[in-house]
Amino acid sequence: MFEIEKISGEDKTEFYKELNTYLEGLLEGETDWLAGMSNASSLLYLTMDNINWAGFYLYRDGELVLGPFQGKPACVRIQMGKGVCGTAAKTREIQIVEDVHKFPGHIACDTASQSEIVLPITAEDKLIGVLDIDSPIKGRFDEDDAKGLQDFIGILNERLIWPDNSMSISEYQVKAMRTKNRFTSVEGQILNASLGLAGEVGECVDHIKKGIFHGHKLNKDYVKKELGDIAWYIALMCDALDLSMDDVYRENILKLEKRYPNGFDKGQSINRAE
Ligand code: SME
Repeated sequence: MFEIEKISGEDKTEFYKELNTYLEGLLEGETDWLAGMSNASSLLYLTMDNINWAGFYLYRDGELVLGPFQGKPACVRIQMGKGVCGTAAKTREIQIVEDVHKFPGHIACDTASQSEIVLPITAEDKLIGVLDIDSPIKGRFDEDDAKGLQDFIGILNERLIWPDNSMSISEYQVKAMRTKNRFTSVEGQILNASLGLAGEVGECVDHIKKGIFHGHKLNKDYVKKELGDIAWYIALMCDALDLSMDDVYRENILKLEKRYPNGFDKGQSINRAE
């Protein structure tokens, strides 16, 4: 059993040093994210002064969903970009809010809350969720809290195995086809997919051409969006031909495993059978 005593830390730096040592002890030999986050929220709630809510929101299917926490029941889903949590998740930047009433779109879960800190949790550039702490007094959080809590998240990141929140290919296909034009014939759909693919690939390579030859800045986010559009038209073509994207991708991998059993090889590329 863990006895959590009040942490005496003289100043915030000392406090977080002690807190983070406690956390390391709590997580000893355990990698389960649910257990780890549950204990972590309890630790924060019991040791931090002047707070009324401490817990996590997890990133799932493009939004934040309530995770382990301590405090009053809270809103379950938060859209990306909405409230303090959604802003931290979208921008991936720590939000220190001195006065929640002055934060545009702040979502009030507990009317007692006056100030708030929210830190994004990412692993290998993937958003896992956010850590949210509320206080009943104004201006409770500052840069020292941000620094200490970042280290706290660092320990969680090091020790826990996060839930797999990636989208499957079949899930993407279903979601993408929600916006297909249902009134087009199969031939029309095939033609639309062909033109769309050529158009989106064109937009993508035009941007790359300008980046390489015209001195423009290569914008990774722009290329990312174009790749998404290309994926959408691949989904449309698969839909028209009654193919599952999952199957198409799987077959491609099997073909490449056969062609290059030990990774890419020039000789095998020149002399390939198919
Ligand atoms: N205030 C948060 C919502 C979560 S509760 O504080 C627990 C926000 O504006 O995102």
